[in-house]
Amino acid sequence: MRILHVVGARPNFMKAAPIIRAVTRLGSEFQQLLVHTGQHYDAQMSQIFFDELELPQPDVNLEVGSGSHAWQTAQIMVRFEPVLLDYQPDWVVVYGDVNSTLASSLVSSKLGIRVAHVEAGLRSYDRSMPEEVNRLVTDQIADLLFTPSEDANINLEREGINPKKIYLVGNVMIDTLVNLLPKAEKKWPALSERFPFERYILVTIHRPSNVDNPATLSEIMTALDAMSLEVPVIFPVHPRTEEQIMAAGLMPKNSQFLLVDPLGYVDFLALQVHASLVLTDSGGIQEETTYLGIPCMTARANTERPVTISLGTNQLIQSKSSSLVPAMRTRLESQNHTHQIPPLWDGRTAERIVQVFQEI
Ligand code: UD1
Repeated sequence: MRILHVVGARPNFMKAAPIIRAVTRLGSEFQQLLVHTGQHYDAQMSQIFFDELELPQPDVNLEVGSGSHAWQTAQIMVRFEPVLLDYQPDWVVVYGDVNSTLASSLVSSKLGIRVAHVEAGLRSYDRSMPEEVNRLVTDQIADLLFTPSEDANINLEREGINPKKIYLVGNVMIDTLVNLLPKAEKKWPALSERFPFERYILVTIHRPSNVDNPATLSEIMTALDAMSLEVPVIFPVHPRTEEQIMAAGLMPKNSQFLLVDPLGYVDFLALQVHASLVLTDSGGIQEETTYLGIPCMTARANTERPVTISLGTNQLIQSKSSSLVPAMRTRLESQNHTHQIPPLWDGRTAERIVQVFQEI
């Protein structure tokens, strides 16, 4: 069996790594090709993850880079098609909900090549999010749908997807977390010299809904500036957020509010483990904090990962200073951190996925 994996953006890499390793263990009957679309290309957004996650170097890099959604999606499609025609895989495996996921699924489906979607079925029910559109379309054309939680199965069945194509396998990102947690703990002493704080708030914000409108970004930065007078704030900044912070003149005023370059997987995991609170708008970080039991606040109106609220540590919060500051204070003071790890988030999801391929 020939499997072609497509990755493109930062959140894809930690999902693909355990599956590629599990397929390698199956032996020579299974061949695989790794295609990187080049959607993310900065060393800190891409190469560092290949090194830390021990991902093989991509066999093909489409080097698309940044552009509008239409341009980026179209470029991936045009550049991916000849690779597919040349390799002729039995399955194309796509990950998550980024533009690379959608573009490569469309090309494969039109060529009659079967698509397997890892992290299928998540829904925010908010079509203003580009990722929601990517998820909806990818799931409609996928031939095999691997879901992380029961709510995803319910969403898919509601959309008329044949249940025979759906496999509830758990959260593959947690495989990577479990695997690299010991490494993260080993790096903690060095990191805590760089960030010598007993308590701190860890922040990641990059969604268009939070950063593309200067007024919204200003609300968030004002709240963080105020909070950093009480508890230090560490904010590794995504390139798109950095651009907008600079353009809007919103650089922090307080020395306890640290804007730093994007971090690699291991450093960021270590910082999550030791954080007093995480403020994010990422999808994956809602899940990682749920697994780790670290209080998480998500600056969004909705989440496609409701299990992180019902079982985990996550709480939605409006991107307004008047909401963020009191909510962060309350959360920092609260002693009640009860949470449960969702079923099948156990570090063995990749094994379950390759078992399905073997059975097929
Ligand atoms: C993409 C995903 C998002 C995911 C995020 C994780 C889509 C629609 N969005 O958003 O779901 O949460 O990745 O990071 O696919 N840039 C760089 N260097 C890079 C990559 C990007 O400087 O290596 C800058 C460019 O200015 C670019 C901007 O970031 O225009 C946005 O990049 P893009 O890949 O379009 O979307 P993300 O915001 O990263």
